[in-house]
Amino acid sequence: MRVIIRDDYEEISRAAARDVARLLNSKPNAVLGLATGSTPLGIYRELVRMHRDEGLDFSKVTTFNLDEYVGLTPSNPQSYHYFMHEHLFQHINIARQNIHIPSGTTDNYDAFCVWYEQRIVDCGGIDLQVLGIGSDGHIAFNEPSSSLGSRTRLKTLAKQTIQDNARFFSRPEDVPIYAVTMGVGTILEARSILLVASGSGKAAAVAGAIEGPVTSMNTASSLQLHRDVTCYLDRGAASELKMVDYYDWIDEKESSAPPTVPRPHLLKSPTGVRQSN
Ligand code: F6R
Repeated sequence: MRVIIRDDYEEISRAAARDVARLLNSKPNAVLGLATGSTPLGIYRELVRMHRDEGLDFSKVTTFNLDEYVGLTPSNPQSYHYFMHEHLFQHINIARQNIHIPSGTTDNYDAFCVWYEQRIVDCGGIDLQVLGIGSDGHIAFNEPSSSLGSRTRLKTLAKQTIQDNARFFSRPEDVPIYAVTMGVGTILEARSILLVASGSGKAAAVAGAIEGPVTSMNTASSLQLHRDVTCYLDRGAASELKMVDYYDWIDEKESSAPPTVPRPHLLKSPTGVRQSN
């Protein structure tokens, strides 16, 4: 895992957005995996700015969102459909037919989940997956004890997640209890992954994910098994990591290395995404 720590949220958001832009510039028809929640808002703001000011082109991009609440229609302001249109899609030139977000209102969840998985494959697989992390270590809505091989499916949210997400709803009892979510196995098939975390409320989950054992009790720890993961953390989110000096040292050495010295994080993979060491 590459761990990049910056002083504040805006810096990590800009850095993560630059990675997305670098991919789109080298692969205009890239497939992006997208997250919702507070964390990716800064990335989306920066992508919208790059589209507006620098012509970043989304016309051939395909997207797959991680999850959606069961029972919320796309027009519900608390739905993830609504969130994505509000914060990203309506501001960029993405083709509507290239947007995929799990349905929270289908009659047949099993069939929908099978279709969603197949659609990802048919579109060539996810090139770059953006992830936040829950305070219980979840990625997407893969709550503690989720199988690390899980696929897109219905999931019952943990009480902690319902409590954390109550801030988006007028009443805590309005927070849905179920969600449709990509599985950990689905996420791990992405060619590259950006995990972004901000604030000390995420510090314990981040420490477990990066330095703890690989365990279904912190599903983000499964990312240790992936060969191309970059974690962008602000100082708060990094505050319980033991190896901060080491991560900062690697970051400093790699960004100041002369061009003749291989800089693993700048090497391009076939998808145009930096390769991991
Ligand atoms: C949302 C998602 C979740 C969030 C996580 C953190 O699509 O998949 O895993 O990334 O709950 O949420 P925030 O960013 O609101 O703290």
